[in-house]
Amino acid sequence: MKSIVIAIDGPAASGKGTLARRLAGAFNLPYLDTGLLYRAVARRVLDHGADPADAEAATEQARTLNRVDLERDDLRTKEVDLAASAVASIAPVRAALLDFQRDFAQVSGAVLDGRDIGTIVFPKADVKLFITASLDVRAERRFAERKAQGVATTLEAVRADLAARDEADRTRAAAPLRPARDAHRLDTSTLDADHAFAAAAALVNQAL
Ligand code: C5P
Repeated sequence: MKSIVIAIDGPAASGKGTLARRLAGAFNLPYLDTGLLYRAVARRVLDHGADPADAEAATEQARTLNRVDLERDDLRTKEVDLAASAVASIAPVRAALLDFQRDFAQVSGAVLDGRDIGTIVFPKADVKLFITASLDVRAERRFAERKAQGVATTLEAVRADLAARDEADRTRAAAPLRPARDAHRLDTSTLDADHAFAAAAALVNQAL
């Protein structure tokens, strides 16, 4: 089987991570959640007591990031959500993380999910998917996850945080969230996880 790159982009809680993991399992490809890179940079900036909007501090942390930073279990807090979006808007931070993402797929291909995989990181990916879902559906999903983690929050607060982060990710100058011209779009507000997987797997099979 030829080694292929599958690029999956979309807003927060769109279902792209679930789909990416399933495709990686089904097609025996390594999987990289690229959001973790930005989260890990943000975590390190916060740990140093610096401001996530401080370009110099954030770039320094991005340049010295290592694999263990990605394995920390405190990367999915609300504080890190917002700080990750802030560091992700800094162009030199993004540049510092490019090689890691490209090298990841070098040996045996990969499934990567994020915001700019089909547009910037792998503009020649074999399959590009852009996953969306309505803000209401995404907020319900993220709220259920937070509740399961035992985090005290409200649906309204989760919805407001998602909307703010999406707006920042869509309107930033550096690698904004947008579908690549040749991306296939899947809306998971109307498609359940099994149907989304079946549609995506059919596209991957065509590319093999
Ligand atoms: O996907 P996740 O919600 O974990 O990503 C956290 C943040 O990292 C996003 O809000 C976005 O600002 C940034 N990100 C990015 N490019 C990627 C992946 C994530 O800018 N490829």
